[in-house]
Amino acid sequence: MSTRLLHIIATPRGLASNTGRVSSVLLEELHERYEDLTVNTLDLFAADLPAVAGVNIKSKYALMTGQPLDEAARTSWGEIERTIEQFLDADLYLMTVPMWNFSIPYALKYYIDAIVQPGYLFAYDATGQPHGLVHDKRMVCVTSRGADYSQPPTAALDFAEPYLRTIFGFVGITDLHFFNVQPMDVSQEARRDAFRSAINDVRSWVANGAWDGMPDVGIDEIPSDLNPPVILD
Ligand SMILES: Cc1cc2nc3c(=O)[nH]c(=O)nc-3n(C[C@H](O)[C@H](O)[C@H](O)COP(=O)(O)O)c2cc1C
Repeated sequence: MSTRLLHIIATPRGLASNTGRVSSVLLEELHERYEDLTVNTLDLFAADLPAVAGVNIKSKYALMTGQPLDEAARTSWGEIERTIEQFLDADLYLMTVPMWNFSIPYALKYYIDAIVQPGYLFAYDATGQPHGLVHDKRMVCVTSRGADYSQPPTAALDFAEPYLRTIFGFVGITDLHFFNVQPMDVSQEARRDAFRSAINDVRSWVANGAWDGMPDVGIDEIPSDLNPPVILD
């Protein structure tokens, strides 16, 4: 069976994307090293994501409190489940994410709000502690930024990497690697240097076998003291 990578694109800039330029090199290198890699692409600015409002919000709270959903609500919630299933149907993730206002673009936040659902990506134990349900997966995030946040004092303004580490770590994906391409918008020379250095880093990261022995599974068996996931029929 092949190893499945989901490439989640969170920039609307298509071929003009700075982040995408480095992600493309990474994808080429990964394809070369891992022949059984299959890539699915989810372009978040082009995707028709399910609403995280209206009936789906009512359903979210109904499911959390064990209430039944009527037919229309189940149909609508099915779109949330399909989005979650597409996410879980991958062994590896590549995130292509520019920094927007010190954080992530709204399309990615929206996607996270759609998929990070209790009973699906995390569950509470008897003491109320949340546990991530997504195991044995790896993620690489390529981010790019107009300025440089690698050193103080600007490092404190980087809410993109800490947020991505927190939210994906929360659901159980703790094997994360970041390539932060910066600064992109300060000068032509700095931009060229940043690309050169990021592309070198990407190439040596793959060449050093960062993803050797890739996982081939999705979700772990859920411990009996956690609420089971509520995947509907
Ligand atoms: C809406 C918006 C907000 C941005 N906010 C920031 C920011 O807070 N800090 C920063 O350094 N660059 C910021 N930028 C610049 C981008 O992060 C930078 O140009 C990046 O390389 C764009 O990546 P892309 O070409 O893949 O979309 C912003 C760009 C846009 C469009």
